[in-house]
Amino acid sequence: MFELPDELVKLGKKRIEGFPVEGFVKGRGPQTPTIMLIGEAPGENEAVEGIPFIGRAGNELAKSLATINLSRDEVYMTSAVRSRPYLWKEKKMRNGEITKRKYNRPPTQQEIIAHAPLLDFELKNISPLVIVTLGNVGLQRLLGKEATVSEMHGQIIKHPVQHLASLKESVYKWSTEEYIIMPTYHPAAVFYRPSNRDILEKDWLNIGEYIKKSTAF
Ligand code: URA
Repeated sequence: MFELPDELVKLGKKRIEGFPVEGFVKGRGPQTPTIMLIGEAPGENEAVEGIPFIGRAGNELAKSLATINLSRDEVYMTSAVRSRPYLWKEKKMRNGEITKRKYNRPPTQQEIIAHAPLLDFELKNISPLVIVTLGNVGLQRLLGKEATVSEMHGQIIKHPVQHLASLKESVYKWSTEEYIIMPTYHPAAVFYRPSNRDILEKDWLNIGEYIKKSTAF
């Protein structure tokens, strides 16, 4: 199992202070996994338990992994942001009462930059066969704002990735090494558009094919 060094965890917690986020979830998995998954940010269940992808989206993800005979333990799971970004909203109860509760929201660019050193470290130190980005947040963190999952999903891309230029700056620069990346949709995409399921299934089959070809000798 790969472990983020304690100083980086401390740095990540410090850099995200003051943003409306909660909890802290480290990446999880082996150092030479078949796949490194890069998501968006933890949701409520993940933030409570400190484990990535254990909520509803995590169940969908486990199903996709199973279609190519992979289990959670064989992949490294991480995300652009490690704390759960939330937003207070009012919710009307059945009895008409109004309560306030926290809802998930996508992370902001500032939050992504706050946790960039953590993902940078993982990208440098974990050697997967292929990086699979789940949704636009993970994809754009690696390949920049121009990259979109709708245009790039299902393709194998060999490209440098963005990393933070320095701890004092909010700009990225390109890595010298190239990485093998396969973008696909976030597993939660099937909840708001069920037709995404077919696309996701095809993408995961492509990922499986790529792994088969790369490991055949
Ligand atoms: N979405 C993510 O990106 N990560 C999780 O751990 C859960 C949902």
